[in-house]
Amino acid sequence: MRTVFCFGLLALALGTVGLDFANAAVAQPGGPATAQSRRDAVRETTRRAWQAYVNYAEGYDELQPLTGSGINNFGGVVVTAIDSLDTLWMMDLKREFKQAVDMVRGVNFQRVSGDMSFFETGIRVLGGLLSAYELSGESVLLTKATEIGNILIKAFDTPTGLPVARVNARGPVADSVNVVLAEIGSNQLEFAKLSEFTGNATYQEKSVRVFDILSRVRTREAGLIPVHLNAQTGQLNGDYITFGALGDSYYEYLLKYAILTGQRDGLAGRMYTTAINSMKLSLVVNSSSRPDRYFLAARSNGNLEPTMQHLTCFAPGMLSLGSQFLGNNDDFVVAQRLMQSCIAFYRESQTGLGPEAVRFDYGDSASALDTDSLDLSQSASLARNGYVVSSPSYILRPETIESLMYLYRTTGDTIHQAIEKHTRTNLAYSSIKDVNSNNDKDNHRNDMPSFFLAETLKYLYLLFSDSKFYPLNEYVFNTEAHPFRIQKRM
Ligand SMILES: *[C@@H]1O[C@H](CO)[C@@H](O)[C@H](O)[C@H]1NC(C)=O
Ligand SMILES: *[C@@H]1O[C@H](CO)[C@@H](O)[C@H](O)[C@H]1NC(C)=O
Repeated sequence: MRTVFCFGLLALALGTVGLDFANAAVAQPGGPATAQSRRDAVRETTRRAWQAYVNYAEGYDELQPLTGSGINNFGGVVVTAIDSLDTLWMMDLKREFKQAVDMVRGVNFQRVSGDMSFFETGIRVLGGLLSAYELSGESVLLTKATEIGNILIKAFDTPTGLPVARVNARGPVADSVNVVLAEIGSNQLEFAKLSEFTGNATYQEKSVRVFDILSRVRTREAGLIPVHLNAQTGQLNGDYITFGALGDSYYEYLLKYAILTGQRDGLAGRMYTTAINSMKLSLVVNSSSRPDRYFLAARSNGNLEPTMQHLTCFAPGMLSLGSQFLGNNDDFVVAQRLMQSCIAFYRESQTGLGPEAVRFDYGDSASALDTDSLDLSQSASLARNGYVVSSPSYILRPETIESLMYLYRTTGDTIHQAIEKHTRTNLAYSSIKDVNSNNDKDNHRNDMPSFFLAETLKYLYLLFSDSKFYPLNEYVFNTEAHPFRIQKRM
């Protein structure tokens, strides 16, 4: 449940180019924009969204873009300004970044009236401040991060050490002991960073204890933890398991905590591997009407629930990142399969934007899909695409774009690095005998086929170039990657 109500500015900015990016990833010929112009367009979308927030909602958490008003969904801590800080910095929007920092200066977390969500405040406010502090070195950002961190850390004051769902300046909110997996399991990166920057290890220790506690929970499927728990008693409520809302970012944080701390074989990394192995066995299924389409389902009482949410489309990116970090190619195959479905959700809609949730047909279980209730166009969609849209909204979510970014970066770039590392000789580059050998010295062959220069290096170069460079609507490549200019129609 990374972002059940995510209206982050980054999402806003990237959302508008979602289709374009999706098309680019599958190398659609015709009218491709350049990488630079795409970057510029995204930057302009960001600037425009930011300006509207400043004009119409300064001092509030979020902008209501139709009415031009502000709304406090997170206790009135200028959440949009904080969530935008690192985006503005990365896009070199300096003036806007300074505006955001000035807004942060005025926030007083002690004065927030009402309760704050431990999870949402952690990922947006604490995370946003720490990341922007690390990028920019602006000391006020760390001061504010420490202030909110000292409030949030009180959530862990329970008999089990699991954090409650809501806090305020006085401490944990007593009636918020029913918690969800994604909320208790998605704060370890932030508190680790807060410990790193303040030199106070307490934050990280309290937060990482959640992983220790969860590692001892006995579950039906190893590593897949039911999403509802009681922070007071540590008991599980029900047995709904999912990589969608309520579960998602717990699994993401196991992996990213392992990456952040550089510990492949630490507890978090091992828990991640166990969970993903179970996921592949019991939650990844293909549609019966479109067997080539794979979905990441949920389970309740052991029964498969044939639904997939937009939120779940973060999973291909996670699997791709994890496969690279852990050297597990099998996960990358699953990542690609799920990515194809997430792209399909976008490409097969009228707008080119992906829906909030779909249902697919799986096996012949009657519970799978109530086919009698479908209208004609839904039945047609089911037969053609393997799914029907069950929730048609698109709330500016990032997950599909996020995953595309990871798949793109974890393929091309690592292949090139591996070529440099393992095929490089004193003079040039050579074929190698065994891709699973860890002895580079004896692995070289005395050849360097011409297609290395003609194709391998050229395709790598094209992959990282602007798409206006030898655009696919002007050139066709022969089977040795030699480009021929497309002929004008007579
Ligand atoms: C470290 O942080 C914790 C939690 O806010 C606090 O209770 C403790 O006093 C801090 N320790 C030091 C040495 O500042
Ligand atoms: C779909 O799943 C079934 C059952 O697991 C499997 O036998 C089949 O090979 C899959 N189809 C494709 C196209 O992958």
